[in-house]
Amino acid sequence: MNTIPNVKLNSGYEMPMVGLGVYKASPSETVQAVEWALKGGYRHIDTASLYKNEKEVGEAIKDSGLARAEIFVTTKIWNDDIVSERSVEALKESLYRLGMDYVDLLLIHWPVKGWQKAYVDLAECVDKGLIRSLGVSNFKTHHLEAIKGISKLVPAIDQVETHVYFQERRILEYCKSNGITMEAWRPLGGAGSRELVDPTLVAIAKAHTVSPAQVALKWNVQRGVIVIPKSVHQDRIKSNIDLFSFDLSGEEMEAISSLDRKDGREGRDPDEYGQ
Ligand SMILES: NC(=O)c1ccc[n+]([C@@H]2O[C@H](COP(=O)([O-])OP(=O)(O)OC[C@H]3O[C@@H](n4cnc5c(N)ncnc54)[C@H](OP(=O)(O)O)[C@@H]3O)[C@@H](O)[C@H]2O)c1
Repeated sequence: MNTIPNVKLNSGYEMPMVGLGVYKASPSETVQAVEWALKGGYRHIDTASLYKNEKEVGEAIKDSGLARAEIFVTTKIWNDDIVSERSVEALKESLYRLGMDYVDLLLIHWPVKGWQKAYVDLAECVDKGLIRSLGVSNFKTHHLEAIKGISKLVPAIDQVETHVYFQERRILEYCKSNGITMEAWRPLGGAGSRELVDPTLVAIAKAHTVSPAQVALKWNVQRGVIVIPKSVHQDRIKSNIDLFSFDLSGEEMEAISSLDRKDGREGRDPDEYGQ
């Protein structure tokens, strides 16, 4: 079984460097994927109220027989709940669906209108023990900078889209110098990824007898970024966490760094939300 290194967050809690993402996994796929993941050594699951599978994540964790304290669970407050100023109620609803009395990491899903109030309200839920670490998602450096004006609590995590073709180095540098850990969503480049057939990645994978997906994930881990690859296939779930029997050389890390592209973004630009 794989042993996954942890990162110590600014909240004092430890977070595994690799987790299972369950976006677009149906409820039944989620139960199966989480079961395979926990059996294969994962101890970190990333869900969201948007994904409509928090209940199944909670059930699969319960059925695993593992202690709650052994598993790191992330969920997120969806945009509608932020805009309508009901983030605390939404957190309680997520906890109810998960069947848990606290969440390890709670993220503000996008910096939509009202995110500042949500952040302040949710910071109080850290004090109440409902959230162990509070973080944000899809925050650019100007959003992160704005938090300094509204709360003393530095977010533990910024979960952003980042992968080989979209490296977000500026946000990573900002996070590193402000005690925030960066986490990558879409770390494989998503369904039908262009990156997993990139000749540089393929050549590096061949040299280490691993897959291009493992190289893409290891590159982020080696630069200090947490990854949460999604899969509903057992063989992929297994290999996506098998990242610690090889290391990328400095030269290989640099070769991958040169693959960053201006058109690399796959999802929405957070500034489209107008905040
Ligand atoms: N905060 C946010 O706004 C946000 C946005 C998007 C995602 N997320 C989180 O980040 C997680 C990961 O992002 P994502 O799901 O968008 O994309 P991803 O993990 O980069 O890619 C998932 C896709 O890659 C396939 N795949 C998985 N392992 C593979 C492998 N070893 N080789 C080839 N293909 C493989 C999966 O197919 P199969 O499932 O069929 O194997 C799926 O189609 C999500 O599940 C979610 O938890 C957060």
